[in-house]
Amino acid sequence: MNPPLILLTGATGFIASHTWLALQAAGYRVLGIDNFSNSSPEVLTRLKTLGGMTPDFIRADVCDAAAIDTVFAREPIAAVVHFAAFKAVGESAAKPLAYYANNLSGLFTVCQAMERHHCQALVFSSSATVYGKPEQLPIREDAALSATNPYGATKLMSETVLRDLQAADPSWAIATLRYFNPVGAHESGLIGEDPRGTPNNVMPFISQVAIGKRARLSIFGNDYDTADGTGVRDYIHVSDLAEGHVAALRYLLAGKGSIVANLGTGQGSSVLELVRAFEQASGRSVPFEIAPRRPGDIDACYADPARAHELLGWRATRDLQTMCADSWRWQNLNPNGLAG
Ligand SMILES: NC(=O)c1ccc[n+]([C@@H]2O[C@H](COP(=O)([O-])OP(=O)(O)OC[C@H]3O[C@@H](n4cnc5c(N)ncnc54)[C@H](O)[C@@H]3O)[C@@H](O)[C@H]2O)c1
Repeated sequence: MNPPLILLTGATGFIASHTWLALQAAGYRVLGIDNFSNSSPEVLTRLKTLGGMTPDFIRADVCDAAAIDTVFAREPIAAVVHFAAFKAVGESAAKPLAYYANNLSGLFTVCQAMERHHCQALVFSSSATVYGKPEQLPIREDAALSATNPYGATKLMSETVLRDLQAADPSWAIATLRYFNPVGAHESGLIGEDPRGTPNNVMPFISQVAIGKRARLSIFGNDYDTADGTGVRDYIHVSDLAEGHVAALRYLLAGKGSIVANLGTGQGSSVLELVRAFEQASGRSVPFEIAPRRPGDIDACYADPARAHELLGWRATRDLQTMCADSWRWQNLNPNGLAG
């Protein structure tokens, strides 16, 4: 019998490409779709090198119902991991309509196609942003939810849609995974986060400063209520995150039901700690300046990862040093990203 076929949407993106390899390593077959709105076809070449086989890939937009139907009509799909979405918080405030349209319409289109084709196992990429300004740390899954920007609102609304869907038809098995701050890259240095233009996230920014593409890092605020005054986040290696998806799929496909789970390490690190760890890992210096706080930023955010460990048998194993070393290898081997 053929191993189960897993459909990845947004498959050539940062987290999905690592998940693709982790799923293959776990014995699943993978079919990927992406419209390349925020990734490069070169990722497929890299996946071929790393996975030892030509990736099964279809270029498609998740908002295009006819195209998604064609994907499902090809052969039975056991489960979907829905990564495809726009993800830049700042851009979402400037272009709310584009964010609501892409992130929500994509989810509706995928779920409706799944329903038509009797596929009811879904892993959804949510985010710690759904906790808004957390009242308690570490953050448990039953904490209050709120959105502080349109991107966060799309994740919160998506979670509501999925909860209602599952309540209406309990044969749906849905894993809603709330990622904390994904960083790092595949240990080969062949795939990693490949931002277009100015990076939105701190790790690619630090990498670009270390390699000399940018003069200095701006640290937004050093008067937060944290040990050194800079913001504290729960950085998690993307390969750990990828393995978390494999664990979630196993859970769904074993018929254990639906789950909402944090994927984080449970360890908070400040921006200054991250900069120092990166300098150590890369042997380069990372000049920085202190800039004003950004509206909406919070002091600290880190997960209580206990539920994922209890129910999925998963926990993150890679430390900050490894995250920085792998980010640096990726940056160093691909100084201009995959386009360059
Ligand atoms: N990276 C993070 O910090 C983070 C944190 C929490 C949650 N997430 C979520 O995880 C998921 C993956 O994030 P990522 O960091 O890998 O982002 P990414 O931008 O690297 O990957 C997303 C992929 O989806 C594709 N895509 C977007 N819209 C599409 C559409 N309409 N049709 C087909 N493909 C489309 C893009 O081309 C891209 O390859 C997203 O849903 C994101 O919101 C990311």
